[in-house]
Amino acid sequence: MASTTRHVLVTGGAGYIGSHTLVELLAVSQSGPIKYVPVILDNLSNSCEGNDEAARIPESVKRVGELASWDPIFHQVDLCDIDAVRQVFSKYPFHSVIHFAGLKAVGESVAKPLRYYQVNLIGAMNLMQVMDEFNVRNIIFSSSATVYGTPEKLPIPEDHPVGNCTNPYGMTKFMIEKFLMDQCKAKPDFNAVILRYFNPVGAHSSGRIGEDPRGAPNNLMPYITQVAIGRRPFLSVFGSDYDTTDGTGVRDYIHVVDLANGHVAALKLFEREKPVGCAVYNLGTGQGCSVLEMVTAMREASKVEIAYKVVDRRAGDVASVYGDPSKAAEELGFKATKTLKDMCEDSWRWQQQNPQGFNCS
Ligand code: NAD
Ligand code: UD1
Repeated sequence: MASTTRHVLVTGGAGYIGSHTLVELLAVSQSGPIKYVPVILDNLSNSCEGNDEAARIPESVKRVGELASWDPIFHQVDLCDIDAVRQVFSKYPFHSVIHFAGLKAVGESVAKPLRYYQVNLIGAMNLMQVMDEFNVRNIIFSSSATVYGTPEKLPIPEDHPVGNCTNPYGMTKFMIEKFLMDQCKAKPDFNAVILRYFNPVGAHSSGRIGEDPRGAPNNLMPYITQVAIGRRPFLSVFGSDYDTTDGTGVRDYIHVVDLANGHVAALKLFEREKPVGCAVYNLGTGQGCSVLEMVTAMREASKVEIAYKVVDRRAGDVASVYGDPSKAAEELGFKATKTLKDMCEDSWRWQQQNPQGFNCS
């Protein structure tokens, strides 16, 4: 069968979602008519330098290479350095870009708003500028359900109002979405797929790659697995008086491998004859899960009792957030298939096999 080769720039490819997406992208390349050649650009600000000094490949990427029998192409470049970005573009005939790179800690963005606006916005603007210069017309962008702010209705559809974000991180996502939409309007052959993730959790089933937060995790799943492994004494459950089934917060958790496959499905849009323009999709399961349901699911997966204490609500949290996944199902043919049990078992395997994550030196 004749195959088509597509060079894809993966910014932030050494990170949590980027590394899982690489695995799925390389898997479809082996079985399908399109051979994707991923090129990774990452400044390693939130990922681990390789333990193997000679190779200078980040540890997560090295492990992706092992899982997928692939020789990684990696450039340690900061998106804020536009000339370095240009140099990468000058080396490959890119067909598309998947843009994961950016800062993502909500609390830190409140404390350091300038840093978040600088890194996320200047990084995205430089990337779009260089794409324009090199005539690269297709981009997939990692957005977040955070752009919806406090939901006015559930499940949240893509046409729900956006922009009422409660923190600078969320504002950067909203603003980058707007840059992309304006660029699509200005250039009819420019295509942008904006993916609004709900709550990504889980890890690759091999246990070789997963989420590796620095310091105490802010998010629920990594906190729970660190309690289960004994790194933290107990989970603080932020509030039990919400208007939900058991009073604790409800979210739409999606397995990171499903999420990765959502990107593969989105890339296929660029193969259609009809221009994509600017398209927005929720990536979630459409199912809500409470904090206590997650604790129970993890106890069953790990066979470890998860100590927890109910404390006050966390500022800025809302009772329930879950998305309507039907547009992605209809237009991308994408549906999350992994269960809460898969999410917990895979997170636990990753945590057990890598108690200190990638063990950054
Ligand atoms: P991550 O921090 O694991 O990965 C991001 C990667 O980008 C890291 O490897 C980091 O080193 C790199 N990076 C950061 N700034 C850079 C820069 N200026 N130049 C080059 N590389 C840079 O994060 P993730 O969880 O994989 O998230 C990926 C994307 O998805 C982010 O844009 C994030 O905001 C978005 N997102 C994540 C979640 C989530 O819960 N993980 C939810 C919604 C949206
Ligand atoms: C958070 C971010 C959101 C981001 C998302 C990515 C905030 C306000 N929002 O969403 O912008 O896109 O992560 O995954 O930070 N919980 C506890 N104890 C904990 C941690 C969390 O009870 O130690 C509860 C929370 O109150 C919430 C649920 O668990 O009900 C999920 O929390 P978390 O994993 O932080 O995700 P979000 O708050 O949904």
